[in-house]
Amino acid sequence: MATKKKRGGRAGAASRNARMIAALNEDLAGELGAIIQYTTYAAKVTGPFRPQLTQFFGSEIPEETGHAQYLANKIVALGGEPTTVPRPVPEAHTNREMLVAVLEAERRARADYTKRAKQAEAFGDKGLQVQLENIVADESGHFEDTERILRDWPV
Ligand SMILES: [Fe+2]
Ligand SMILES: [Fe+2]
Repeated sequence: MATKKKRGGRAGAASRNARMIAALNEDLAGELGAIIQYTTYAAKVTGPFRPQLTQFFGSEIPEETGHAQYLANKIVALGGEPTTVPRPVPEAHTNREMLVAVLEAERRARADYTKRAKQAEAFGDKGLQVQLENIVADESGHFEDTERILRDWPV
Protein backbone atom coordinates (compact mmCIF):
# COMPACT_ATOMS: atom_id res chain seq x y z
CA MET A 1 0.00 0.00 0.00
CA ALA A 2 1.35 3.37 -1.01
CA THR A 3 2.03 5.78 1.80
CA LYS A 4 -0.10 8.87 1.76
CA LYS A 5 1.72 11.89 0.42
CA LYS A 6 2.19 14.55 3.06
CA ARG A 7 0.19 17.67 2.31
CA GLY A 8 1.68 21.07 2.01
CA GLY A 9 5.45 21.03 1.86
CA ARG A 10 7.17 24.33 2.55
CA ALA A 11 4.15 26.50 1.58
CA GLY A 12 1.88 24.38 3.79
CA ALA A 13 4.26 24.72 6.74
CA ALA A 14 4.38 28.49 6.26
CA SER A 15 0.61 28.81 6.28
CA ARG A 16 0.31 26.52 9.33
CA ASN A 17 2.85 28.77 11.07
CA ALA A 18 0.90 31.88 10.07
CA ARG A 19 -2.33 30.38 11.43
CA MET A 20 -0.68 29.51 14.74
CA ILE A 21 0.80 33.02 15.01
CA ALA A 22 -2.60 34.61 14.28
CA ALA A 23 -4.29 32.45 16.92
CA LEU A 24 -1.63 33.24 19.54
CA ASN A 25 -1.97 36.95 18.72
CA GLU A 26 -5.70 36.66 19.42
CA ASP A 27 -4.79 35.19 22.83
CA LEU A 28 -2.17 37.90 23.42
CA ALA A 29 -4.80 40.58 22.73
CA GLY A 30 -6.94 38.86 25.37
CA GLU A 31 -4.10 38.92 27.93
CA LEU A 32 -3.35 42.60 27.27
CA GLY A 33 -7.06 43.27 27.74
CA ALA A 34 -7.05 41.23 30.98
CA ILE A 35 -4.16 43.30 32.38
CA ILE A 36 -6.08 46.52 31.66
CA GLN A 37 -9.30 45.00 33.00
CA TYR A 38 -7.76 43.91 36.32
CA THR A 39 -5.77 47.13 36.71
CA THR A 40 -8.77 49.42 36.20
CA TYR A 41 -11.25 47.24 38.11
CA ALA A 42 -8.85 47.05 41.09
CA ALA A 43 -8.96 50.84 41.17
CA LYS A 44 -12.73 51.10 40.69
CA VAL A 45 -14.10 48.72 43.35
CA THR A 46 -15.92 50.39 46.23
CA GLY A 47 -17.68 49.64 49.49
CA PRO A 48 -16.87 47.59 52.58
CA PHE A 49 -15.16 44.83 50.53
CA ARG A 50 -12.93 47.21 48.60
CA PRO A 51 -9.73 46.03 50.33
CA GLN A 52 -10.41 42.38 49.46
CA LEU A 53 -11.65 43.05 45.92
CA THR A 54 -8.82 45.40 45.04
CA GLN A 55 -6.37 42.80 46.32
CA PHE A 56 -8.17 40.02 44.42
CA PHE A 57 -8.17 41.89 41.09
CA GLY A 58 -4.64 43.18 41.63
CA SER A 59 -3.30 39.72 42.39
CA GLU A 60 -4.28 38.49 38.91
CA ILE A 61 -2.14 41.08 37.11
CA PRO A 62 1.27 39.35 37.49
CA GLU A 63 -0.10 36.04 36.21
CA GLU A 64 -1.80 37.60 33.16
CA THR A 65 1.39 39.57 32.51
CA GLY A 66 3.36 36.32 32.56
CA HIS A 67 0.94 34.81 30.03
CA ALA A 68 1.31 37.88 27.79
CA GLN A 69 5.10 37.70 28.01
CA TYR A 70 5.14 34.02 27.14
CA LEU A 71 2.85 34.55 24.14
CA ALA A 72 4.78 37.56 22.82
CA ASN A 73 8.04 35.59 23.02
CA LYS A 74 6.53 32.56 21.32
CA ILE A 75 5.03 34.67 18.51
CA VAL A 76 8.47 36.19 17.82
CA ALA A 77 10.10 32.74 18.00
CA LEU A 78 7.67 31.56 15.31
CA GLY A 79 8.61 34.52 13.13
CA GLY A 80 5.58 36.69 13.87
CA GLU A 81 4.93 40.19 15.17
CA PRO A 82 3.23 40.36 18.59
CA THR A 83 0.12 42.53 18.69
CA THR A 84 0.07 45.67 20.82
CA VAL A 85 -3.69 46.07 20.57
CA PRO A 86 -5.65 44.76 23.56
CA ARG A 87 -9.08 43.13 23.37
CA PRO A 88 -11.60 45.79 24.50
CA VAL A 89 -12.51 45.69 28.20
CA PRO A 90 -16.25 45.52 28.85
CA GLU A 91 -17.77 48.47 30.65
CA ALA A 92 -18.65 47.70 34.27
CA HIS A 93 -19.70 50.11 37.00
CA THR A 94 -20.62 48.13 40.11
CA ASN A 95 -18.53 45.55 41.97
CA ARG A 96 -20.92 42.86 40.76
CA GLU A 97 -20.74 43.99 37.12
CA MET A 98 -16.95 43.88 37.34
CA LEU A 99 -16.95 40.37 38.82
CA VAL A 100 -19.39 39.16 36.14
CA ALA A 101 -17.25 40.69 33.38
CA VAL A 102 -14.16 38.98 34.83
CA LEU A 103 -16.02 35.67 35.08
CA GLU A 104 -16.94 35.87 31.39
CA ALA A 105 -13.40 36.84 30.36
CA GLU A 106 -11.91 33.92 32.33
CA ARG A 107 -14.50 31.51 30.91
CA ARG A 108 -13.50 32.59 27.42
CA ALA A 109 -9.77 32.36 28.24
CA ARG A 110 -10.21 28.82 29.58
CA ALA A 111 -12.11 27.75 26.44
CA ASP A 112 -9.71 29.51 24.03
CA TYR A 113 -6.57 27.99 25.59
CA THR A 114 -8.15 24.54 25.72
CA LYS A 115 -8.71 24.84 21.96
CA ARG A 116 -5.27 26.38 21.44
CA ALA A 117 -3.47 23.54 23.26
CA LYS A 118 -5.12 21.05 20.88
CA GLN A 119 -4.12 23.24 17.94
CA ALA A 120 -0.51 23.27 19.23
CA GLU A 121 -0.56 19.49 19.46
CA ALA A 122 -1.73 19.21 15.83
CA PHE A 123 0.92 21.81 14.93
CA GLY A 124 3.49 19.45 16.44
CA ASP A 125 4.89 21.80 19.11
CA LYS A 126 4.90 19.88 22.39
CA GLY A 127 6.48 22.73 24.37
CA LEU A 128 3.78 25.15 23.26
CA GLN A 129 1.08 22.60 23.98
CA VAL A 130 2.33 22.07 27.56
CA GLN A 131 2.63 25.81 28.22
CA LEU A 132 -0.89 26.39 26.91
CA GLU A 133 -2.18 23.58 29.12
CA ASN A 134 -0.53 25.27 32.12
CA ILE A 135 -2.28 28.50 31.15
CA VAL A 136 -5.59 26.58 30.97
CA ALA A 137 -4.95 25.52 34.58
CA ASP A 138 -4.26 29.16 35.61
CA GLU A 139 -7.38 30.51 33.87
CA SER A 140 -9.50 27.70 35.34
CA GLY A 141 -8.32 28.80 38.80
CA HIS A 142 -9.22 32.43 38.06
CA PHE A 143 -12.64 31.35 36.81
CA GLU A 144 -13.37 29.20 39.85
CA ASP A 145 -12.21 31.84 42.35
CA THR A 146 -14.45 34.44 40.71
CA GLU A 147 -17.40 32.05 40.48
CA ARG A 148 -17.20 31.37 44.23
CA ILE A 149 -17.12 35.07 45.07
CA LEU A 150 -20.21 35.61 42.90
CA ARG A 151 -22.05 32.55 44.20
CA ASP A 152 -23.18 34.33 47.38
CA TRP A 153 -23.01 37.86 46.09
CA PRO A 154 -26.17 39.81 46.95
CA VAL A 155 -27.97 40.68 43.69
FE1 LIG B 1 -4.14 34.83 31.21
FE1 LIG C 1 -7.00 34.83 33.92
